[in-house]
Amino acid sequence: MIIYNENEKVFNLHTKNTTYQMYVEQYGYLLHGYYGRRVADVKMEQLQNYYDRGFSGNPNQAGKDRLFSLDTAAQEYTSCGIGDYRVSSCGVINRDGSTAADLRYVGYKIYEGKYAIPGLPAAYDNNDECETLEVTLEDPYTGLRVVLYYAVFEAQDIITRNVRFENAGVDTLTLNRAMSVCLDMQPGDWDVMHFHGRHCMERQPERLRQPHGITRISSKRGTSSHQHNPFVILASPEATETNGDCYGAMLVYSGDFAAEIEMDQFNQTRLVMGINSETFSWQLESGASFETPEVLLGFTHEGFSALSGMYHRFIRNNICRGKYKNTRRPVLVNNWEGTYFDFNQEKLIAIAEEASSLGIELFVLDDGWFGKRDDDYSGLGDWYVNEKKVQLEKLAERVNELGMKFGLWIEPEMVNEDSNLYKAHPDWALKIPGRAPGRSRYQLLLDFSRKEVVDYVYNQISSVLSSCNIEYVKWDFNRSLADTYSLALPKARQGEVRHRFVLGMYDFAERLTRDFPNILLEGCSGGGGRFDAGMLYYSPQIWCSDDTDAMERILIQYGTSFGYPASSVGSHVSAVPNHQTGRISSMELRGAVAMSGMLGYELDLTKLKRAEKAQVRKQIQTYKKTADLVMNGEYYRLSDPIKNPDYCAWSFVSEDKKKCLVNFVYLHVRANAPLINVRFRGLKPDAYYKVRGTEQVLNGAALMYGGYTFPITMEGDGYPIQIYLEEK
Ligand code: GLA
Repeated sequence: MIIYNENEKVFNLHTKNTTYQMYVEQYGYLLHGYYGRRVADVKMEQLQNYYDRGFSGNPNQAGKDRLFSLDTAAQEYTSCGIGDYRVSSCGVINRDGSTAADLRYVGYKIYEGKYAIPGLPAAYDNNDECETLEVTLEDPYTGLRVVLYYAVFEAQDIITRNVRFENAGVDTLTLNRAMSVCLDMQPGDWDVMHFHGRHCMERQPERLRQPHGITRISSKRGTSSHQHNPFVILASPEATETNGDCYGAMLVYSGDFAAEIEMDQFNQTRLVMGINSETFSWQLESGASFETPEVLLGFTHEGFSALSGMYHRFIRNNICRGKYKNTRRPVLVNNWEGTYFDFNQEKLIAIAEEASSLGIELFVLDDGWFGKRDDDYSGLGDWYVNEKKVQLEKLAERVNELGMKFGLWIEPEMVNEDSNLYKAHPDWALKIPGRAPGRSRYQLLLDFSRKEVVDYVYNQISSVLSSCNIEYVKWDFNRSLADTYSLALPKARQGEVRHRFVLGMYDFAERLTRDFPNILLEGCSGGGGRFDAGMLYYSPQIWCSDDTDAMERILIQYGTSFGYPASSVGSHVSAVPNHQTGRISSMELRGAVAMSGMLGYELDLTKLKRAEKAQVRKQIQTYKKTADLVMNGEYYRLSDPIKNPDYCAWSFVSEDKKKCLVNFVYLHVRANAPLINVRFRGLKPDAYYKVRGTEQVLNGAALMYGGYTFPITMEGDGYPIQIYLEEK
């Protein structure tokens, strides 16, 4: 519900449990009033006190009144260059070379439904469940207009924000900072939780006490990256999984981003988030406009699990689209770790036959099926089948005959110099004239900021996808951007290349999902290097990590779960010794961990022993029973494996609380160990639950308030225990 009070010029945005407030003050600046637990429809003026502070100046119209300062007031979206010395929302270079924009309130609009952002992924409204507020600010000196968009998803407790810059003046100006959100926090101390990592160990949570000064979480790799994720949480220092104030900010964007959190001289905290201004600038001609990506804001006073639940539901229902949004994904086998580049038709068919007999539903042919691609030195860019290695049509037919779907791997934005595409169009690769571009995995990037390049690659790939019955695509991206320069853009616009590259990639994704609505798209970037809400708009699941070691995956999936639902996590059982760590873990553990996401197998199934095959068969049967719970249930982190690395416990509970799957793994067994008690969550206190496979019946309240003490096992590290509860 959006309520505007004309007398006091106050906007109140209410969701079921939260209120977000802004108001216009006497000089026309838009101030931030409040964001937190739901309050009445009142102006939260008691939060502000204005004092004459040294070195915090005042607007010109204030005359001798020295109380109001942009440097101290809580603002909704800041001006720049006019006396707020904290991190700012935007940055400009005007025609005269000055770098100021003085943004004053002009007007507003309120309407039913959700605003759209042309060319960018964004949350959508299912059945009139949201309302939009547009607030326009303008710099009277240049005519730069800034339209702030807010969509209020009342039932979900999510508010989305995005900003449109419009040049309503006559002179071209340059935007060199265009953040999607500015949030001046409530008074208090705030911890910053963010998710860092590396290739093969993505999204590890780290909680920091915000110091005075700026904490900056960012990527300038051209992707959201393995190293940082465009999701941050600001939490009260006492917040836990089950209690305490938590604010989330998630950027719906897959390119360079930054989240900057600053605690100022008066202990006030500001968060800004959006495209990384270090690698961005945009020329805004008279009459032109620029849209920022969207941010999803969420607040709860009930701790991290509740915040995660809000994002999980929102991503599942208001970000992910298409046929597979809420339906169970087929159990797949991918040949990558099974064969790498070394395969032929017979080998693939042998794996497919084995897969079908085990109950697997989808066969995915990974890298190596196209061009001259027998290793990673050549072939990218040549999207036609290497008939010597594989006869795609026949393979797809055989796979279909076996009762399975067929899927394919692609990496559209890349090119090897050793490829026909590069020979024909060397100027299509991103490189700076006169400089030799760096390689990564021996590949270069195609200039996806150019439409003709996107068109060409799309035509090539879509003709392969139309050539036979392909029902799944894994879309990979295996290097970071560097040497960015586009021959198609003038000098003054080179700062736009990286964002334009992302827009080109989204254009490709939009065409793919529109033209092939039956294809299940799985995102990937060397595992989880582009795991973000932007990609989830196109692909409902993403290959979570190239690390398939179950013990490591527990930590990766733990960190990922703070922002992203299990339905978005591609997770596979692979061979032992594991190819990334050399660790040997049991089939039970590999199965339990992979089943906590969208289950797949990634190994040469023909090499499995008979007993292992029986285990796979059983896993798939179990998975089919629990998949709905994993996909659409509530997820609970029942332990913190970073604080206590001895074990990890997590659970899924159905919406009606009648079913629950608890997973427990001893990560590090100890001799004569202390007992481990875990309190279950999300059950009905009054209900009695039967433990599947036993005669045991346990009470919900007893399990939640007393907990469950797990047996001490002497099975070595990585022993999994799964408890499946069903209400009697
Ligand atoms: C990336 C992916 C892998 C695999 C290879 C193929 O590393 O993450 O799963 O597809 O590329 O080259």
